Amino acid sequence: MHPYSLKSSKGAPFPPRPILVVLIAIFGFYVCYISFNQITLENRYEENSGEVQAEIHCRKPRLPHEELRYVHFPKPESYSRGECSCNPVRSFVLVSMQRSGSGWFETLLNSHPNISSNGEIFNRVDRRENISSILQTLDKLYNLDWFTSAAKNECTAAFGLKWMLNQGFMDHHDDIANYLNKKGVSVIFLFRKNTLRRLISVLANDYDRDAKQLNGTHKSHAEILAKFKPVLDVSNLIPNIRNAEKYIRDCLDHFNTIRHMILYYEDIVRNRNALFQVQEFLGVPVRKLVSRQVKIHTSPLPGLVRNWDDVSNKLNGTQYAHFLDGADYVR
Ligand SMILES: *[C@@H]1O[C@H](CO)[C@@H](O)[C@H](O)[C@H]1NC(C)=O
Ligand SMILES: *[C@@H]1O[C@H](CO)[C@@H](O)[C@H](O)[C@H]1NC(C)=O
Ligand SMILES: *[C@@H]1O[C@H](CO)[C@@H](O)[C@H](O)[C@H]1NC(C)=O
Ligand SMILES: *[C@@H]1O[C@H](CO)[C@@H](O)[C@H](O)[C@H]1NC(C)=O
Repeated sequence: MHPYSLKSSKGAPFPPRPILVVLIAIFGFYVCYISFNQITLENRYEENSGEVQAEIHCRKPRLPHEELRYVHFPKPESYSRGECSCNPVRSFVLVSMQRSGSGWFETLLNSHPNISSNGEIFNRVDRRENISSILQTLDKLYNLDWFTSAAKNECTAAFGLKWMLNQGFMDHHDDIANYLNKKGVSVIFLFRKNTLRRLISVLANDYDRDAKQLNGTHKSHAEILAKFKPVLDVSNLIPNIRNAEKYIRDCLDHFNTIRHMILYYEDIVRNRNALFQVQEFLGVPVRKLVSRQVKIHTSPLPGLVRNWDDVSNKLNGTQYAHFLDGADYVR
């Protein structure tokens, strides 16, 4: 006779049927208890690791595959992104030069509720002393842990800064390009086509500042400019223009592989569609951008320098002659 046959209850050393039923019931309860505990444990784990869950959940914006590396879900240390924690954020840099309209352009960007451009963060020398201080600053910025008046925090969809070429951007171009590439940062280059205008504007601006320092009273820009018209160094004019243009070309070469768009001040002023393209590039809902800040002054060139005739003679007949005419004079 088989020792484990249930039919052999008679006389065999097997527990009586009621005890067997109780044992099975206890075992059943035990199994239920264990699995129930596991379920609650899992639930609790999911609650605790909300970040992980959010990340997995957030990683699916409906975008072409090649664009996915440019969208991020930063988790700022100093606050929670709340209802917008799953809104993708794009990191950007606005790269420009002095007197190229970048201040005006940045106020246009910041008039968009989902764009936050945080000014010339690297105008402070300690932030650009070496590449590690630069990258540290950028890390903090792109984690949205940077507070300026432009920071809109929770629902920002494009976050960036304005960076002038001479603020360490060109000095460390290799490391910066690597970083931008690795972090999926997009670049907007903003330059001014008329290099002569830009040079004059830089000079005039310096004069402007000097004039204000000379005299406590703050006169209007035009008034001061009229009084303090700069003299252009005519003998170095063409080399200066050439150098400035080379600087821009070199910059575009160094950052050629980074996702970018190139804008010219003259084009934005003339063609408002340019601003729609910028918004598309930044992946934000397209809307009309406004600025109360005045554009850089574009009064006729002859009135801006004291030795205009010399300048005109120097450039007449050269490849830069088109800088002289009023064709790019815009209101
Ligand atoms: C970089 O500059 C910071 C200060 O801005 C300094 O504390 C740090 O030691 C420097 N690092 C290197 C590697 O030189
Ligand atoms: C833009 O911001 C608004 C609120 O300020 C928010 O409701 C909206 O989701 C944001 N859009 C994007 C694309 O992040
Ligand atoms: C400074 O202001 C005074 C009074 O407004 C004026 O007389 C003087 O010419 C000014 N100086 C300069 C350098 O503009
Ligand atoms: C440029 O030079 C030509 C002749 O050399 C002259 O006729 C013309 O008026 C000059 N243009 C300007 C803007 O000075």
